[in-house]
Parts: sequence; structure tokens; C-alpha cells
Amino acid sequence: MDNVHQFEVIVVGAGGAGLMAGLYASKIAKTAVISKLYPTRSHTGAAQGGISAALGNYEEDNPDWHVYDTVKGSDYLGDQDAIEFMCHEAIQAVYELEHMGLPFDRTPEGRIAQRPFGGHTNNKTGKAVRRACHAADRTGHMILQTLYQQCLKNKVNFYDEFQVLDILIEDGKTVGVVGVELATGELHTFHAKSVIIATGGHGRVWEITSNAYAYTGDGAAIVSRHGIPLEDMEFFQFHPTGIYKMGILITEGVRGEGGVLLNNEGTRFMETYAPTVKDLASRDVVSRAMYLEMRAGRGIDGNRYCYLDVTPATVNKYAEIDGRTNPDGSPYVVTGEQILSKIPDIVDFSRTYLGVDPITQPMPVQPTAHYAMGGIPTNKSGEVVIDDKNTVFPGLFAAGEAACVSVHGANRLGTNSLLDIVVFGKHAGIRAAEFAQGADYVALPADPTDFSRQQVDRLKNGSGKENAFDIGKEMKAVMFDEVGVYRTEEGIQKAVEKLTELQERFKGVKVQDTGKIFNTELLNTWELGNLLDMAEITAAAALNRKESRGGHARDDYPERDDKNWLKHSLAWKKDGKIKLGYKPVVLTKFKPKKRVY
Ligand code: FUM
Repeated sequence: MDNVHQFEVIVVGAGGAGLMAGLYASKIAKTAVISKLYPTRSHTGAAQGGISAALGNYEEDNPDWHVYDTVKGSDYLGDQDAIEFMCHEAIQAVYELEHMGLPFDRTPEGRIAQRPFGGHTNNKTGKAVRRACHAADRTGHMILQTLYQQCLKNKVNFYDEFQVLDILIEDGKTVGVVGVELATGELHTFHAKSVIIATGGHGRVWEITSNAYAYTGDGAAIVSRHGIPLEDMEFFQFHPTGIYKMGILITEGVRGEGGVLLNNEGTRFMETYAPTVKDLASRDVVSRAMYLEMRAGRGIDGNRYCYLDVTPATVNKYAEIDGRTNPDGSPYVVTGEQILSKIPDIVDFSRTYLGVDPITQPMPVQPTAHYAMGGIPTNKSGEVVIDDKNTVFPGLFAAGEAACVSVHGANRLGTNSLLDIVVFGKHAGIRAAEFAQGADYVALPADPTDFSRQQVDRLKNGSGKENAFDIGKEMKAVMFDEVGVYRTEEGIQKAVEKLTELQERFKGVKVQDTGKIFNTELLNTWELGNLLDMAEITAAAALNRKESRGGHARDDYPERDDKNWLKHSLAWKKDGKIKLGYKPVVLTKFKPKKRVY
């Protein structure tokens, strides 16, 4: 067979989770990382504000407070054993990144600088604590660069610009993946003992999103086609502050530095919705508050956006009202130069995309589809688990946003995603390499590229009656309108019906470009198939969950219902139908209680 490669561990995806997994696996086993992008273009680079760890560099903090905040932020759906593991590993993880060379900002004493972020609190006072370790507003970008350098140093093998189309499974075991080399259109088979899926999320399902074009749920869609369930897919996070109409992320770090949200009356409305932490409540709470303000006609000039104001005059006014102080106890007062140095990219984005200078003007923002709490179910070692008994699927691993450990439950706290990718990327890499060392290669199927070829041929040979762009546009609109920040039975049902229609129409799509070299039309159409699957599963799980929890807010079931719904959902897609099941949440120290911010 041509184009067959053999590695003990294959990692699919080269964002923070994939690179950390590749780095750690390569210390033990022969490892390759495959990515449809050049690694440093991965979406981790878009994460801005910081990575959380209770270092306590400015004030008292404690990993146990981080655990509690994460459990509370998750609306009690996060598995508490996994959350304890992540928050306690956080400190070591951040120091490890520092020692690898990550250029964190510094305190005057030379320690790693930290800023407040939504939902991270001093558990004694309930007030915001500085827990997000940052490199200006480019923390994810710096993590990506640092890890890529470490991987090169450690001689990880890279297959850049290869799109993985299928995972190979023989006798219930993972035996590799098949990918297409974008530069040539050739199919390649990667024979492996362990495969780690780290392909990120699927925010491109929604019309307004902070997610990169590449975020199309590829890994989750691929494994779901092999009968593996996806967990908690109804929970998708809307970040409160995306640039109006474009969705581009304006980091929560802006509010961490003192920025406030204002409505059309100039009122800082978060004082009403979250009296203690105000603009730094968890994201689900802030996004819903913005929606309620807009619904009540208090969006700016009656439009569907609010203002995010980080001008020094506003920051200083509210810092005085809040009694905010610097670590040395002096009043918190900022200048335009200081704002610019703390959030340089945000200032640049706003000037470039909006023509608004945040040093002197408020920025128009709206909630933007940001993060998948759900994904491929795993345990703490990154092993994929396939049922309510957490049975491990041999040789298959997942990490990062593609996975659901579950540490974020129904709503993720800001900065916990960068922590998740570093901690669970590492452990998936270690466990996958250990597994590979103890296993033999299982023989490949007779024609490993068969299913991949079928998928490509179908897109090349459709009837041509349908247009992929139109299908994508309709999917994004219905998901944004009906399966967004607020949901109802009627709306979700409408989305389900629309998605069934779109899946049918997708069968009639034919790509026009018959070339082999960088056929991006073919690639984007295949990705649309993945997005449709993600959208369908999300809508089906959302329809069934008759309660409101975290990122899943049902207008018709406004209360959280722990009696009936304190459980994770599992969704299997088979023969075009979605079957739902459930599994228990792991509770250790914290009994569910009403969230107050
Ligand atoms: O607001 C932000 O900087 C985003 C961070 C995150 O999603 O964790």
C-alpha cells in the first residue's frame, strides 16, 4: 500500500491540547501530530485573557477555592473528581509553561502577573480574585508558540495541512487514522496503537461566533460515525463580549482590568444581576443578562448590542464605587497608556474592525458562540469512555475542547480552557504512550482508505442541486436564533426540523472544483457535513433537557432541576437518528446549591 505511515501514537490536531499530548507522548513513544492547519495557526492562538492557577501572586488564593468556583461555575454538572485534579495540577502546569519559556507578564517583584476573571473568587469574601496568569491579551498565542517549539526540540513528527477524514477501528480497537494531504489530494493511512483526538470545538455551527473557520467539530463527528457517543452537547457557551455582528472575541480580561458593561441608559446593569462580582459573574449569567437588557429594549439605540466601556474615566469611576484597590492597598486608577499595554490586541481589533478607539470610546458587543462544554467523553487520563459505566475504548483518547472530561459541566469559567488543554493534553499524551508501549500493532483493514474515499466521492458526485454555502448559512441562522443563549421547546423543535431538511439537502451537494491541489471547496464541504452532525446532536440533546442549567437556558423550564436532570447526557448518532442516554455526575465535596454571584 502507498502512503502508509506507522507511529505508536498519533495525535490529531495541533492546538494546545494536541501539542501538549504530542510533547508528552513523544517522551515515551514514536509520535506524530497531524493537523489540517500549520500548528501555530490553531485556534488556541485566539485565547486571550489568561490561564487560571491559584498562585496567589498578589493576594490570598487557594486551589480549593479554584475547585469550588469551577464546580459552581459548571452549575454543578462538572465531575468534581476531575475538577479537583485539574485545579490542583494548575500551579505546576503554569510553572512548567514558564520554565518552557512562555513570556508571562510580571509583577513588580518578578512573579507571574495575574488578573481577575469571571467566576474566580476569594471564597471568604465572594469578591473577584486575581487568578488568570497572562501574557498581555495573547496568552493562548504564547502557549501555542511555546509548545510548538518544545515539540520541535523533542523531535515530534508533524504532518501539517493533512485533514483526517476517518479513524480506523478493527475488532473494537483503534488502529489508526486516514487523512488527505491538502497539497496533493492524496489519501494517507497512519497506522497506530493509540490515537488522540484534539481537534477542538464546533462553534462554526452558529452565525455569530468567536471561533476560527477551522472549528468544525471534525474529531467529534468522525468518532460519532463509529458509534461512540458525545457527552453534554446541549451545553454550548456564549461569551458575553464578541464584536457586534462579527463575533470576534473581546477578552473577559477587559472586564478584569476594570471595563464595565452598559445599556442604552448608561446603566451598569450587572449590578442588578450579580451584586457581588457584577461584570465578573460567570459567562452564562452575563450573557443572559445582556439578552434580558436587549429584550427589554435597553440595547444600544434599541439594537442587539450593549457597550463594553474600558475608557479610563469609566474604569476609574466604577473602581472607586466598588472600592477596588491595587495589591498594595492604594486606590485602583488607570491611564490610557496602562490600558493599551494590558490589552494591546483588543485595542487594535476594535480600532481595525469597528473604527472605535477603546481608550476613548465604548465598544459595541454582543454574546458570541464561544466554547463547547460537551464533546467526546473521557476520563481524567484522556481515555475515551463509551457508556454510562465509563467503559474505556482501547487505544482511543481525546483532549481539549473536542473532549468532555467533564470539568466544565454546564458552563466553563474563563481561563479554565487553557488550563484544561495543558493538564489533560499532558495526561492524554502520557497515557496514550503507556498504552502503546504495552500493546502490539493490530493489523490494518484490507482497504483502510475505503470509507474516506466514499465520503470524498459522494461530495464529488452529488446531484448538484444544492449549494453548500446556502445550507451552511441556514444552519447557522436557525442555530443562533433557536438554540442560542435562550431556548424554547417550540424554537428547538423548529431547529430540529430545519436540520433534518438540511441534512437531506446536503446529500445533493456537489463540489464544483475537481482539482486535487488544495481543494478547499471539497474540504469546506466535508466540514459542513461535520457541522450539521454537531448541530443535530446539540439540538436533540437541548430539546430533551427540560430544565435550565449553565449554558442551556430554557425559557419554558427556567429553573435548574437537580431531581431529574443532575446527569450528563450521552448522544449516539446511528442510521441518521439520534439516541439519547444519561450518566451520573461525580459529586465529591460539594452538594448542588443555588448559584449566587
Ligand atoms: O475572554 C477570554 O479571554 C477568553 C478566555 C477563555 O475563553 O477562557
